[in-house]
Amino acid sequence: MPRTPIVGGNWKCNPAKLADAKALVDAWKEKPFDKEKVEVVIAPTALHLGSVKSSLEAIGMKVASQNVGKNDMGAFTGEWTAGHLQDMEIGYTLIGHSERRSKYGESDEDTAAKVEKCQAAGLKVLFCIGELLEERESGKTDEVNKRQLAAVIPKVTNWDLMVIAYEPVWAIGTGKVATPDQAEETQAAIRNYIKEAVSAEVADKVRIQYGGSVTPENCKELMAKPNIDGFLVGGASLKPTFMDIVAACQ
Ligand code: G3P
Repeated sequence: MPRTPIVGGNWKCNPAKLADAKALVDAWKEKPFDKEKVEVVIAPTALHLGSVKSSLEAIGMKVASQNVGKNDMGAFTGEWTAGHLQDMEIGYTLIGHSERRSKYGESDEDTAAKVEKCQAAGLKVLFCIGELLEERESGKTDEVNKRQLAAVIPKVTNWDLMVIAYEPVWAIGTGKVATPDQAEETQAAIRNYIKEAVSAEVADKVRIQYGGSVTPENCKELMAKPNIDGFLVGGASLKPTFMDIVAACQ
């Protein structure tokens, strides 16, 4: 079954000014894309999200939060819930990004609790997994990805709400993009694990993005691989040429 390509733009803690975010979206208007052929989901900072949401939707893009709480509403200072995102008509959230895991101590158990809340709210998730350089060098890539997925699989009752983003940590922000063969081999193993742990049907339909130093120059060769269904883009999503990556996926 053909899988609709999906391209995410993770702005992380950027840009510095709301005016810059609005100017970027205005620049993207100059390169329209076919939203029937590719799904585009942009994750601004939590502060900018509400202010750029309508502009992004006006050019056919969807919006995501970069994180979500594992809690319900209440005395959780600084948090927001899957219910809040649904209420604000923000249809996606990232969960488990390596920077949340490494810099803010997000555990596999935390990601499981967050996925459970998103499933209950009907919120779509870009679920991030990926290995450290030392884990790849010691042959533990598949083991790490399986462990991170195994934490959340029991919480997923509706796989239509899940997208997997494979982001080798050693490729994030380094310019050291995985080779197409490396990404394809790992993403094929991820799909095979989903087939074993869930079902062949889910494995066939779940979309798996690649993330880590994707650029307009390297995206075409990556996208040609059968188990790469799009990208989760960081630095290159803060540029007008992000639309060249989108164009390569449609
Ligand atoms: O979530 C996407 C991000 O981690 C990739 O970053 O800058 O290597 O494209 P970058």
